[in-house]
Amino acid sequence: MTHWLHQRFGIEHPIIQAPMAGVSSPAMAAAVCNAGGMGSLGVGAMTADAARDAIHETRALTQKPFNINVFCHGVVARDAEVEAAWIEAMAPMFQRFEVSPPDALSEIYQSFLTNNAMQEMLVHEAPAVVSFHFGLPPVSVISALKQAGVTLFASATSLDEARACQAAGIDAVVAQGIEAGGHRGIFDPAGPDAQLSTGDLVQQLVTKIDLPIVAAGGIMTGADIAQMLSLGASAAQLGTAFIACDESLADPAYRAALRAPASHPATLTPAVSGRPARCLRNRFIDWSEHTEASIPAYPVAYDAAKALGAAAKSAGESGYGAQWSGAGGLQATDGSTGEIMARLVVEMLQA
Ligand SMILES: Cc1cc2nc3c(=O)[nH]c(=O)nc-3n(C[C@H](O)[C@H](O)[C@H](O)COP(=O)(O)O)c2cc1C
Repeated sequence: MTHWLHQRFGIEHPIIQAPMAGVSSPAMAAAVCNAGGMGSLGVGAMTADAARDAIHETRALTQKPFNINVFCHGVVARDAEVEAAWIEAMAPMFQRFEVSPPDALSEIYQSFLTNNAMQEMLVHEAPAVVSFHFGLPPVSVISALKQAGVTLFASATSLDEARACQAAGIDAVVAQGIEAGGHRGIFDPAGPDAQLSTGDLVQQLVTKIDLPIVAAGGIMTGADIAQMLSLGASAAQLGTAFIACDESLADPAYRAALRAPASHPATLTPAVSGRPARCLRNRFIDWSEHTEASIPAYPVAYDAAKALGAAAKSAGESGYGAQWSGAGGLQATDGSTGEIMARLVVEMLQA
């Protein structure tokens, strides 16, 4: 099949496994590559050293090109009062598990925008693709990566964001629709959001943006992939479809929640991390819909949610974790990554 990923990288199928911080693994990414797609690693929450190790681990498992994804969120607006009030509002949940709430919250990982060690490591390692979520890095970083031979992808949730990607010299735009699992890549979460579906966004971008468009959000089957290609997308990026695979880092409770009808429909909420993200319905989401406390900035709020999730998990309660899922989560299948890829390819060719 002739498509952009094939022309650019020799990749057989127009299928990208989405970067998923905390869920994607070197084994998952390599298995997708070895099955003829493009695998990705989400290293946005890692240190540069950990990300380098993950790249080396992936390279030991595949010779094929893969994608490394980082978070480009802007300066974090800290607010001590909001953070203290958020801890106080969550305190009864911590107490339920006989754990003290944290004294204070912190920025649990650094944005790529200011992470010089990560920037230098990626220029040095030069993976085939580096992709950006939540925004774009400075021009100097874009140039250094391009000079190192790296192809650049960036998420866009609107035409304006896609135009910014094009103006910055990005090579392909990941059109992330409202159905997508995990964090919405919107550049400014406080700004307007038309919340376009993946299909509508793809159709808009293919006519107005002179770059390959990768469809992302709610794509669960090969027929879904074929539909996105028919709308003009150059490839499809699937995250949720891989959460339950053997090589995923999702724990058993997350896998069970993904299968449970009561967890659906997955809800878009800023309460878990401070930025809108689509998450399985659970006790924390239920609580967040009834609290009047203001949510701290991303990723400071995520520190609180992770602490609560860990406290609950150690008490045997899994209903407080950050369990991301797209709108199609109930269709996720288990099995090996290779089996999921094989199914997607057969379905896509049949469609
Ligand atoms: C568990 C999970 C983690 C995710 N983590 C990231 C990430 O680290 N970086 C990123 O750019 N996108 C991340 N995403 C969003 C995906 O890139 C993609 O937009 C989304 O998975 C597409 O929608 P789908 O989940 O319905 O397939 C994540 C999605 C999920 C489900």
